[in-house]
Amino acid sequence: MDQTQQPKHLWWQKGIIYQIYPRSFMDSNADGVGDIQGIITKLDYLQWLGIQAIWVSPVYPSPMADFGYDIADYTGIHPLFGSLKDFDALLKQVHGRGMKLILDLVPNHSSDQHPWFLESRSSRDNPKRDWYLWHDPGKDGGPPNNWLSVFGGSGWEWDETTSQYYYHAFLKEQPDLNWRNPEVQQAMLDAMRFWMDRGVDGFRVDVMWHMVKDNQWRNNPPNPDYKPHMATYEKLTPAYSTDQPEVHEIVGMMRRLMDEYEDRLIIGEIYLPIHKLVTYYGINNQGAHLPFNFQLIALPWNARQISSTIDQYEGALPANGWPNWVLGNHDQSRIASRVGKSQARVAAMLLLTLRGTPTIYYGDEIGMHDVAIPEEEVQDPQGLNMPGLNLSRDPFRTPMQWDDSLNAAFTTGKPWLRLAEDYKRNNVQAQKDDAESMLTLYRRLIELRNTEPALHIGNYIPVYTENDLLAFIREADKRFLVVLNLSHAPGYFTPTDVEIHGRILLSTCADRQLNEVQGKITLNGDEGLLIELF
Ligand code: NOJ
Repeated sequence: MDQTQQPKHLWWQKGIIYQIYPRSFMDSNADGVGDIQGIITKLDYLQWLGIQAIWVSPVYPSPMADFGYDIADYTGIHPLFGSLKDFDALLKQVHGRGMKLILDLVPNHSSDQHPWFLESRSSRDNPKRDWYLWHDPGKDGGPPNNWLSVFGGSGWEWDETTSQYYYHAFLKEQPDLNWRNPEVQQAMLDAMRFWMDRGVDGFRVDVMWHMVKDNQWRNNPPNPDYKPHMATYEKLTPAYSTDQPEVHEIVGMMRRLMDEYEDRLIIGEIYLPIHKLVTYYGINNQGAHLPFNFQLIALPWNARQISSTIDQYEGALPANGWPNWVLGNHDQSRIASRVGKSQARVAAMLLLTLRGTPTIYYGDEIGMHDVAIPEEEVQDPQGLNMPGLNLSRDPFRTPMQWDDSLNAAFTTGKPWLRLAEDYKRNNVQAQKDDAESMLTLYRRLIELRNTEPALHIGNYIPVYTENDLLAFIREADKRFLVVLNLSHAPGYFTPTDVEIHGRILLSTCADRQLNEVQGKITLNGDEGLLIELF
């Protein structure tokens, strides 16, 4: 269907989402950890950048076993980040700028310090016992089945007091909630309502595909593709512990709640292959508005594979299902480290010209890279639990680099994670007025995307290419051709199925003349071109 013919496009379709990892964005009180007041001081920057919505990783009360993804109170704010008053101030400031605020919601599991779990584990006949996943030992006296924790080891933890195991897909400090229990459903929907009533514009729902488990607790089968360098979780295929059909009823419930409010958004964090991912849009699009599409993270940086995946994804989307693209987040190596500095510029052009809502991970707009964290400074439980596998996520969570002053102006205290050593050269201040910087490229791409309907709501038309080139057209009132060279070597673009006559609007290579092109295009290595077709 012609996407531009839709009656009305909503903010989350037209705009760009920016993810803030709050611990690392901006610290206002010198404790070395970013906070809400810090974010408020940077809203002018985000507005200048041109993004539409901010998604903030968890700021709820939490023992921080998994840096906030272990929630001890779904309706509060951790004092480390501020107070509810600060939160309301943030929301007001965000809305005052015409922007939106998306909260992270972690409904699959709570903290083991959440009062619900403290009650649940207190005795077998506690009314909240069934709120979590308790089980008798298996026949051999060990765990009930072979399910593994994403963070290493068994997914089952023995509880001495009540002599049963409980299931945790992540840390043992993150017990999984029992989403088959209607009281759990109600409690979480109430928490969502609490934030929606305050004015929050949507949720990014953590590990949405994990929420419901097989009700027969069957063993997961071995993963035939497992290799010893992989996380131990990869030994099995999580066929029974994730992506169960009943999860769609839960997503539908959340969606119905959101639909009681005007113009709200529900994003699902889902790491699944495309054909399964798209089921999370729900029947008749009554599921998540945006099931996160992580293909650009999962795929090797290869033009053929990426362009065929774009087409597969476009082809698999349900009618009126809105696409989205992600290059990075707090769980993944940064794009600049994965593909290198020059290709990170090409990646930025790809992200910001594809059809569908782009999500930018904080710092990627200044080309931040993974930072080497000495072993004795590792903080991330995923790294600490599986030493030797290099799985710590700290390198991609380092403090934002604002300027060349002490700690890049992130904090006047001792930062919770060390900063990149290049921050004196590589920071917002230095890049702002530098025509050749990554930040300038991002800003220009965002500006073009925001102002040209073809780029934010236009159709996507694949263009056949060979070798390391990737090309497509975006079309509405105007037509734009995007040609990206994913290799370091120069290349020729000689399309067979499209007539080229246009003007280069933007190149990822600073010294490119923005002139007219006709017929054949010669690209530099690592060059992406955005061309307005006549
Ligand atoms: C996904 C989150 O993005 C990640 O940071 C977290 O550790 C796990 N879910 C567990 O909540």
